[in-house]
Amino acid sequence: MLNFKKIIYKFNLEIQKIKNNKCIDKLYLKYLSKKGKIKKLTKLIKNISINLKPKFGKKINKIKYYIINKINNLKKKYTKKKKKNSIDLSLPGKIFFKKGTLHPITKVVIKIENFFKKLGFKNIYGQNIENVFYNFDALNIHKYHPSRSKKDTFWINNKKLLRTQTSCMQVRCLKYFKPPIKIITSGCVFRRDYDKTHTPMFHQLECFLIDKNINFTNLKYIIYEFIKYFFKKKNTIKFVPAYFPFTEPSYEVFIKKNNNKWLEILGCGLIHPKILVNSKINPKKYSGLAFGLGIERILMIKYNISDIRLLYNSNIKFLNQF
Ligand code: DAH
Repeated sequence: MLNFKKIIYKFNLEIQKIKNNKCIDKLYLKYLSKKGKIKKLTKLIKNISINLKPKFGKKINKIKYYIINKINNLKKKYTKKKKKNSIDLSLPGKIFFKKGTLHPITKVVIKIENFFKKLGFKNIYGQNIENVFYNFDALNIHKYHPSRSKKDTFWINNKKLLRTQTSCMQVRCLKYFKPPIKIITSGCVFRRDYDKTHTPMFHQLECFLIDKNINFTNLKYIIYEFIKYFFKKKNTIKFVPAYFPFTEPSYEVFIKKNNNKWLEILGCGLIHPKILVNSKINPKKYSGLAFGLGIERILMIKYNISDIRLLYNSNIKFLNQF
């Protein structure tokens, strides 16, 4: 009679020594192929007495499935290992770099827009290439004003230029909207300047409101509330009388920086009656307030940045801080 236990014992010893897929295949052939040990055992059945045949057959099957199971499990283990160590070229490429984020200027613009949206202001976008009419003439800017010169402004031809201020949007909007009007509009403006506090392209946000009985108190209130919201702390600001041809009276607003120095952040005033008349709005019935804010200016104050050019030289270490 065959010693089944011995076969299993031997098989277990052999399987323990296996180190790779190739050896598994060899073991498989040794036990389970046509010429393998199990086949040889089944061939012995015919020599066995009839009443022992079923018992013998059952035992062979038990051994057979024991071996098949063990070999299959081991195979699975090794194919998993192999998968781990090899590169699957059919897989989609991995992204090794971080996703981009919004530029700090865009973030600040969104923050400001959110404040004004809550006050009921409509957000409107203009165009970078502007007609001389909207950028200068309609804003009451004198024909010989220095800002019109080629030294200060990027002219495209004698009628078109890269806008120097977002105030041009006041007149554009008055073409389409009638009072009461509450609008903010932000975007790029262009001037021939380049140093620590100026770049040829920078950003402004223009805010204007036209309604009945709008006065300087309304203007002051909006600016104070906005500064409180934006800087999240109490700031000292001052309104200094200034001259802008499209507002009367006009002011520049200065903010006190940490180093006790004053820095201008915006120009503002009550909309000049001439601008209203040009847009067929009766200045006796309606009045308006307006201001234009330098986005880079307030960003630089908030985050203590000393050179505006840092915002534009694509240094990822710098930009990642926002
Ligand atoms: N556009 C002016 C500038 O770029 C700023 C300005 C001043 C805007 C007075 C206004 C305003 O709306 O009322 O210097």
